[in-house]
Amino acid sequence: MAVCFSSPVKLKSIDHFTLLFNPKPKNNTNKPIFKCNTSVTTTATESQPLFTSVKTFAPATVANLGPGFDFLGCAVDGLGDYVSLRVDPSVHPGEISISEISGHSKLSKNPLWNCAGIAAIAAMKMLNIRSVGLSLSLEKGLPLGSGLGSSAASAAAAAVAVNEMFGGKLNSEELVLAGLESEAKVSGYHADNIAPAIMGGFILVRSYDPLELMRLSFPQNKELFFVLASPEFEAPTKKMRAALPAEVMMPHHVWNCSQAGALVASVLQGDLAGLGKALSSDKIVEPKRAPLIPGMEAVKKAAIKAGAFGCTISGAGPTAVAVVEDEEMGKAIGERMVEAFWKDGNLKAVAVVKRLDRVGARLVGSIPR
Ligand code: HSE
Repeated sequence: MAVCFSSPVKLKSIDHFTLLFNPKPKNNTNKPIFKCNTSVTTTATESQPLFTSVKTFAPATVANLGPGFDFLGCAVDGLGDYVSLRVDPSVHPGEISISEISGHSKLSKNPLWNCAGIAAIAAMKMLNIRSVGLSLSLEKGLPLGSGLGSSAASAAAAAVAVNEMFGGKLNSEELVLAGLESEAKVSGYHADNIAPAIMGGFILVRSYDPLELMRLSFPQNKELFFVLASPEFEAPTKKMRAALPAEVMMPHHVWNCSQAGALVASVLQGDLAGLGKALSSDKIVEPKRAPLIPGMEAVKKAAIKAGAFGCTISGAGPTAVAVVEDEEMGKAIGERMVEAFWKDGNLKAVAVVKRLDRVGARLVGSIPR
C-alpha cells in the first residue's frame, strides 16, 4: 500500500504531539500529563534524490537507564534494524510503499501503521518530497516488545534513509522528531530510544517542548559492556507505561533526581561503578514494573551478586540490562541472569554482551543516481 502524506488520510500533525505516559491518570481530570507543541520547519524547496537506493542501519537502545525514565538512553552496538530505500517509478510521486518486511511476520505493510513507514513519511514531509515515489524494505533484527527499542530502531533507520537519499539536510533533532511521530503512535511519546538510536552514545532529553537533546560523551579511552538478558515474555510498552503512577512522592523525586545526576556524572567520567550504582537505584518506575516481569527481581540480584556494577529493566522490559567492564565476565553474569529468569520466573531467556554504540543510525550502502 502506498501512502501520500498530503492525502486525506489523517496523520497526527507533525507540529503537535501529546505526551501521555499514563493513559489513566489518577487525578480524575482526564487531562494528559504533559503537552508538547513542537514546530518542525519544512524545507521550502523540494530536495532531489542523490541516490537510486540507500541502505541504513539503526542500533538497539537501552532507555531509562534506571532513574532516567523518558529522558536518558544509550545505543548498543551490534544489534538493530536495517532499512533499504529506493526511488520507485511505480510508486506515485510523493508517496511511499513498504515492499518487504523480513525478520518479523506480524508487522503491517501499511506505512501509516508501521514504525518505519510513519518516520519515513514524517521525514519526506520535512524535506517536502513531492516528485518521486519511494519503496522501503525493512529487515527486523530486533524482536518487538523486548525493551531494546525495536520500534525506535525501525523508525531511526527509515528517517535516516530518507534523509540520506535526499542529501542529508535534516539535523539530528529533526530526525528525532520524525522518529517521535512513530514512537508516539506505537508506544508512547518518549525520545529516550529514538534519540540514541539516531545519534548513538548516551543522550539526555533535556526538554520535549522545544525538543532539546544533550549528548553525554562517555570517554573514548574507556570501555563498557552491557549484559542484555531477554526472556521469552512480551512487555508491550503501552501496557508497561499504564502501570506507572500519575504522581510521585517528594522523597522519591529527590532520590531519583540525585541518582539521575549521579548517573550523568558517572557517564561523563567513565565511572562504571558509579554508573552501575545509579542505574540500579530507581525508586519510581522499576518497583512498579519489575513485579510484572516474572523473575526480574531475582535476575537483578543475581547479576549484582555475580559482579555486575548494576542492573535494571531495559526500557519498558522485559530485557534486564547489567553494566560490566569486561566481556568475559559479562558472559558469566549473563548465564546467572538467564538461570534466575528460569528459576524464579519460569521463563526461558538468552543473554548477550554488547558494547556501547557511539555512532547511531548510519548509511551502510548506496547506489548513486
Ligand atoms: N521510557 C520508555 C518507557 C522507554 O520506559 O516507557 C520504552 O522503551
